[in-house]
Amino acid sequence: MNTTSMLQKDSLKGKTILVTGGGSGLGKSMSTEFLNLGANVVIASRSLDKLEVAAKEMEDETGGTVLPVQCNVKEYSDVENVLSETIKKFGSLDILVNNAAGNFVSPTERLSHRAFDAVVDIVLKGSYNCTLEIGKYWIKNKIKGVTLNIVTTYSWTGSGYVVPSACAKAGVLAMTRSLGAEWGKYGIRTNAIAPGPFPTEGAWSRLFPKAFRKFYDPTKKIPLKRFGDHQELANLASYLVSDYSAYVNGEVVTIDGGEWIYGAGEFNLMDKIPSSLWGMIKKITK
Ligand code: HXC
Ligand code: NAP
Repeated sequence: MNTTSMLQKDSLKGKTILVTGGGSGLGKSMSTEFLNLGANVVIASRSLDKLEVAAKEMEDETGGTVLPVQCNVKEYSDVENVLSETIKKFGSLDILVNNAAGNFVSPTERLSHRAFDAVVDIVLKGSYNCTLEIGKYWIKNKIKGVTLNIVTTYSWTGSGYVVPSACAKAGVLAMTRSLGAEWGKYGIRTNAIAPGPFPTEGAWSRLFPKAFRKFYDPTKKIPLKRFGDHQELANLASYLVSDYSAYVNGEVVTIDGGEWIYGAGEFNLMDKIPSSLWGMIKKITK
């Protein structure tokens, strides 16, 4: 594993990047890497206090410039405000990372319709609000913008116990592919990353609470037997928003150590069979 910067210094120089949910977790790690590569970064989420603390930390660490803007992505007027504040500060906006999300585990029959809305509105509505407002701005101003959507592997497999999130992320993946096709003619690229498990406070506190940990170890279903490292994701995100990926459009890139494919393959659990038994199995099956 190599957890240093992958791209050359200044690969993102001159670019202004909006990262929703950029004040914590993976959004913060991606933002830090974008700053290291020379970009200006705007971080937007509900808690301005959290954003301001994160912005200061990132500026101190990288020497870059961060604009924190309070924004509930569910509210279209908040998204309009982020765009106008960004233009006021940096002159333009080139790249959008739809990273903000809400999620928790629950048997679906225990959910209220409000609980379903709470997740779908952040993930799907929040992503299309940002995409629509910023996409219109790019088209009007002939800017060849880039959108990167953070989805998950259950966007296409589905998953029990996180059904609102699975529905919403599937919608975001459909939007990724649809706009890759429709807005490519404007030079606008739309791609997604589907991460497997990467430890963050936000995800772990809601999806793998301590009380669960004695029941199962999530690394057991990952062929590489480990979680992802934030820098690995930040490197992939940097590539996908940079001009190095200029011919990648409408694509979703999985970064999960082989987790989803392991769950999908009919015979993959056969690696539980001890190697000493394979001789006998050959005799039986030949
Ligand atoms: C059941 C729940 C619940 C829970 C909230 N609700 N949490 N129901 N189980 N754990 C219900 C509430 O009772 C309420 O319904 C409704 O949802 C709205 O709740 P609020 O607290 O008012 O919602 P809100 O303040 O909008 O907060 C949204 C949130 C919260 C999603 C519920 O968790 C949040 O702010 N999350 C943001 C960060 C986050 O989730 N990060 C993790 C992303 S990880 P009633 O009927 O009572 O009114 C991720 C990883 C994916 O996406 C893949 C991993 C491998
Ligand atoms: P996180 O730290 O909880 O990130 C979620 C962010 O979204 C927070 O910064 C939060 O900030 C923001 N947010 C929530 N509701 C919002 C709203 N209404 N408006 C604006 N911002 C809002 O969790 P994370 O693990 O880093 O997740 C980041 C992304 O990666 C998500 O899209 C998640 O689905 C995806 N992902 C994560 C994993 C993983 O293993 N960690 C795996 C697959 C996919 P505020 O509270 O300040 O609003």
